[in-house]
Amino acid sequence: MATNKERLLDVQNLETQFRTEEGILRAVDRVSFHLNKGETLGIVGESGCGKSITAKSLMNLVPQPRGKIVGGKIMYYGRSEPMDIASYHHNSSEMRTIRGNEISMIFQEPMTSLNPVFTVGNQLMEAVMLHQKVGKREAKQRAIEMLAKVGISTPEKRIDRFPHEFSGGMRQRAMIAMALSCNPHLLIADEPTTALDVTVEAQILNLMLDLQDEMGMAIIMITHDLGVIAGIATRVVVMYAGWVVEMATTEDIFYSPKHPYTKALLQSIPKIGNRERLLSIPGTVPDLNNLERGWCYFAPRCPHAMDICRQKEPPLIDDNGGHAVKCWLWDKEFVGQQNDEHPAEEQAKTAEEQTH
Ligand SMILES: Nc1ncnc2c1ncn2[C@@H]1O[C@H](COP(=O)(O)OP(=O)(O)OP(=O)(O)O)[C@@H](O)[C@H]1O
Ligand code: SF4
Ligand SMILES: [Mg+2]
Repeated sequence: MATNKERLLDVQNLETQFRTEEGILRAVDRVSFHLNKGETLGIVGESGCGKSITAKSLMNLVPQPRGKIVGGKIMYYGRSEPMDIASYHHNSSEMRTIRGNEISMIFQEPMTSLNPVFTVGNQLMEAVMLHQKVGKREAKQRAIEMLAKVGISTPEKRIDRFPHEFSGGMRQRAMIAMALSCNPHLLIADEPTTALDVTVEAQILNLMLDLQDEMGMAIIMITHDLGVIAGIATRVVVMYAGWVVEMATTEDIFYSPKHPYTKALLQSIPKIGNRERLLSIPGTVPDLNNLERGWCYFAPRCPHAMDICRQKEPPLIDDNGGHAVKCWLWDKEFVGQQNDEHPAEEQAKTAEEQTH
């Protein structure tokens, strides 16, 4: 167990919802995880599982006016006094200070971070002037240095170009430079390489790791591709339909996964250089609009689904060693009560065997 000196974030039972025409949409449903200083945590899951809304909740940037953090805590230990980010108004001066200086995010939608009508240099300089309290000339120098640092050649020329004059990979690098201009404690990268080809993706990921070594920040890396996580994260949170369904070290996620969804995700990892032929998991993520609680949302797609899975929400079971799983197959009490007709233990064993 890490002490508070090592902890950067403690997310406890976070609930973020949207009001929609149909009712309530629970985008993030009682999500808990932690992050230590300087650590890299991966968040994975298919489209619509709540990854981006979890990230935006951490920044207190839930889309307004329909979205809201309605429960839980986001304890942040990056300051002398711990604070609960979830308890602040999204537009409060505390949140604006944190967002600008301590936690930054590379957004999934590139144009959220880069404005098409200003040059890349202008935007970088503005960020530098805001965070580092320096004048224009100095800011320009630092902006050039930042572009060089993220691997953009002839930065003194490129600084005067507009975002559309950059290639996809260069835009991504510029966004990383923007996000790092304040030397944050935490960088949240939401699918930062999805639009890039495999070679550029590898370059960008390596660049992020190098910068992390140099600057010592923690990273939350969000992706739907477990392959991206492998060489980067120390721990992984697997999300499904707004839930955390499994959480473990990267090694355990890859070599001893427990949740049927994690196993299915592992089987769908595209082979290197063969991204087009991604195997998808049969079925789809349920529509989260007005979704009733009280069952396992993965049951319609799960090869091991049992009666209880359709009748009761599985608990999140922690083995006390940091490996948690939200699945009845791993609930000792339930497994102990099983009769021979429904041997959950057998199911768990078969599920284990299938991954080896
Ligand atoms: N502005 C919004 N208004 C209403 N519902 C939203 C809004 N943004 C997201 N949602 C819903 O919240 C849920 C979680 O969305 P989120 O964007 O976090 O998914 P994701 O895991 O990031 O998916 P992707 O991999 O496609 O980026 C989805 O059901 C989505 O439809
Ligand atoms: S709780 Fe049941 S349906 Fe859900 S993942 Fe586990 S076995 Fe499958
Ligand atoms: Mg997303």
